[in-house]
Amino acid sequence: MRENPLVLHVLGARPNFVKAAPVVRALGELGVRQGIIHTGQHYDELMSDVFFRDLALPDPIANLAVGSGTHAKQTAALLVGLEEVFTGHEPDLVVVYGDVNSTLAAILVAAKLGISTAHVEAGLRSFDRSMPEEVNRIVTDSLSDLLFTTSPDALQFLAREGVAPEKVHFVGNPMIDSLFSALPKLDPAPVQKRLGLPSRYAVATLHRPANVDTPEAARELVDGVLAVAERIPLVVPIHPRGRARLAEAGLVDGQGVKVVDPLGYVDFLSLVRGATLVVTDSGGVQEESTMLGVPCLTVRPNTERPVTITHGTNRLVTPASLPAAADKALADGAATPSGELPPLWDGAAGPRIARVVAAWLKGDNLSPASQGTRFE
Ligand code: UD1
Ligand code: UDP
Repeated sequence: MRENPLVLHVLGARPNFVKAAPVVRALGELGVRQGIIHTGQHYDELMSDVFFRDLALPDPIANLAVGSGTHAKQTAALLVGLEEVFTGHEPDLVVVYGDVNSTLAAILVAAKLGISTAHVEAGLRSFDRSMPEEVNRIVTDSLSDLLFTTSPDALQFLAREGVAPEKVHFVGNPMIDSLFSALPKLDPAPVQKRLGLPSRYAVATLHRPANVDTPEAARELVDGVLAVAERIPLVVPIHPRGRARLAEAGLVDGQGVKVVDPLGYVDFLSLVRGATLVVTDSGGVQEESTMLGVPCLTVRPNTERPVTITHGTNRLVTPASLPAAADKALADGAATPSGELPPLWDGAAGPRIARVVAAWLKGDNLSPASQGTRFE
């Protein structure tokens, strides 16, 4: 390894920023030389810049401004841009996060250039390859040199796909680290006031292609969501992907519904903290509502985060079952099956990842016995 090795973090979409912040902070505290490459997959102020401020992320050293497009066009632009950046900066390790197209492209480019890679949030599986994220997860994990998992079942999924167990480190959930850090700032009152919400309300976020990309799916979803709004006032910070189609399907202000722009991280989690119910199809929001003890109805046929059901407040629903599920959740509150949080959701995932990365950069032996990081 070179003297003073360089780590590059590749970030592109909203959930990436939340997952990376604790890792970047912890590596900084260990004195590791690092930089952020922003791919520009998300580019609106409220989908990107606000997260750098709220999470105190350092400014990117490059922004590729790839923008939006079909999967092929966006991924192609990512490949070309990242190849130039990696060739120019010559990183010793590229760190990627989650399951978005920026993650996939970065791992592919790094692997072809012979650059070592680490994947944060490895080993999640929905076993549903119609989700673009599932394809991204499988390819990313198969090409990563270091795999950091957030949940204990990931190791067996990865082993089944032929990933050597010594590459895998169960470190906990960095998205939950960010939530821990933000907790003192999470005050629902100012956001409720700004949005004109009563004290009892529900929050919905909806952006999965299967839910919002066709008029039929959007109409079915909106029917279910409007039925929830008949039971409890509902605020929907709308992801730009589904904005137009969901509006066409009837998701507009009025009749207990308030549709607003996406919210910044602190505002959004403040709103979730004060909510009586969350309705979502987001990956991260399933985890955050579990952590905050708010009942969560996930409008999906499956989840790559089953720990939010077994140890959390999450339930899978269909658009048709949403109204009855909302009645039940509103009656039952946030009782969790196990009564305890998922393992290693303790706010220390970032430092665990940083310790493994720093040791790896030094060429230390990373056996579980020597590092104590695999199953702390
Ligand atoms: C992406 C991820 C998804 C993740 C989500 C987080 C992929 C394949 N999907 O989905 O896994 O859950 O981010 O939010 O990587 N748009 C804007 N402004 C922006 C960004 C996007 O208007 O700043 C609009 C554009 O119309 C764009 C659409 O949203 O075409 C979709 O954006 P894209 O990044 O392709 O996918 P997401 O649905 O955001
Ligand atoms: N989030 C936010 N503002 C919003 C909606 C979501 O800050 O209006 C945060 C949320 O708290 C979580 C992350 O964005 O930390 C999740 O991103 P998203 O749902 O877009 O992606 P997914 O997790 O589904 O990949």
